[in-house]
Amino acid sequence: MNGSGGPGPRKASAVRFETSGALEGSLTPPPDKSISHRAALLSAMASGTSTVSCYLDSADTRSTLAAVEALGARVKTAVGPHGSLDLEVDGIGLDGPSKHPGPDPVAIDVGNAGTLMRLLPGWLAGQPRGVWKLDGDKSIRRRPVDRIADPLREMGADVTARDGRLPPLEIRGAQLRAIEYVLPVASAQVKSCLLLAGLQAEGETTVIERDPSRDHTERMLRAAGAKVSVAPDGMNLAIGGRLPGKRVSVLSTGALVPCDLTVPGDFSSAAFFIVAALLVPGSRVRVRDVGINPTRVGLLGILNRMGARIEVEESPPLNGEPRGTIEARHSPLRSTTVTPGEVPLAIDELPLVALAAAFAEGETVVRGAEELRHKESDRVATVVEAVNSMRGDAEAFDDGFAVRGTGGLRGGRISSHGDHRLAMVGALAGLASRDGVEVEGMDAAGVSYPGFEADLRALIG
Ligand code: S3P
Repeated sequence: MNGSGGPGPRKASAVRFETSGALEGSLTPPPDKSISHRAALLSAMASGTSTVSCYLDSADTRSTLAAVEALGARVKTAVGPHGSLDLEVDGIGLDGPSKHPGPDPVAIDVGNAGTLMRLLPGWLAGQPRGVWKLDGDKSIRRRPVDRIADPLREMGADVTARDGRLPPLEIRGAQLRAIEYVLPVASAQVKSCLLLAGLQAEGETTVIERDPSRDHTERMLRAAGAKVSVAPDGMNLAIGGRLPGKRVSVLSTGALVPCDLTVPGDFSSAAFFIVAALLVPGSRVRVRDVGINPTRVGLLGILNRMGARIEVEESPPLNGEPRGTIEARHSPLRSTTVTPGEVPLAIDELPLVALAAAFAEGETVVRGAEELRHKESDRVATVVEAVNSMRGDAEAFDDGFAVRGTGGLRGGRISSHGDHRLAMVGALAGLASRDGVEVEGMDAAGVSYPGFEADLRALIG
């Protein structure tokens, strides 16, 4: 343990997190990553100048700013609250990218950003005469893009991927036609891609999702003047433990109107402090100004069943997004079973469920989460490996994992595998463990949360 506990000395980007005393205090998490990506894209697509307050300043969302600038949008940045950015974006209009077609594909580097890789093609696919080639880092190159390439092709675009399914992705835009498409996997990224394409397709494009996923794109498109409608799909399957599916439709439009938007705090970042407070004895942490959109907070339901002491105070929504303050206190936890319908509502928080499960009594099982294998790392494999190398007891399935609670973790050494969420899970594990944890590749946290270690340190005091 280094002094008062918490983050310790660095070896390259390896950081030790020692057993810590109680976490106490309040913090504002960084702005929402999903909403920030969308804010930059929709502002670039709009006809006129938009402002975005509290845009997330992280590696991923910087990639999106660079991408829209490469397409011709002008972005002015200023320092915003809590290390965020305030943006002024001069949009190029829906048909902007095809105004200056060149003979060669325009290269766009998405870095590590899966959301950019999946959403931007929806816009570009509807640009006749344009050719773009999207590529990114090692992690992006192993994440499937056939899930967007297939339906975009059905809409009329010419889209090619390496081996038919991996980046780089080459897009030749076309006049698109509307389709009705049943998502083969619950994915907000694929849904959003098709809605952006649908804005430019003749007729009404409908995306059917059996298990609802985050709906920020729908909310933001409406604010930008698009005609988006949502209807329940099929039976109400609530009896089966699932929310009813949705049919999300969008009509073709000539233009999007510019917006003034303030991005709420990221629930997925707040979740690290919520779980840290639950696990470290004596802790009590308040996270302010967090987005609490019901399609994002599935983790709260899961933790509630595990016996977590968590309170949520709602504040008035801003820009159509619910927000509030969440307080969590140290709690004895019991195991639970996560149902497939809950998975999309907690997709990025499932590594935290695995960590909480190691501290709970009994066996926690997550199934129907095959998607985890296609995240920044194969999160079924990397999370199970991390729990086991900290002397926990976890088992991988094709579509999820089981963790048998052993009342805590001894600690050890884990690798982030370049995955920001895994790095931050390792940090929390260290604070709550008996002997501390060294996280190799801690710098990955900068993809979504560059100030993570400093915020964590402030709560340790
Ligand atoms: C995101 C959707 C999720 C999530 C990702 C961000 C988004 O991916 O895992 O971190 O911004 O739409 P999928 O929708 O592909 O599961």
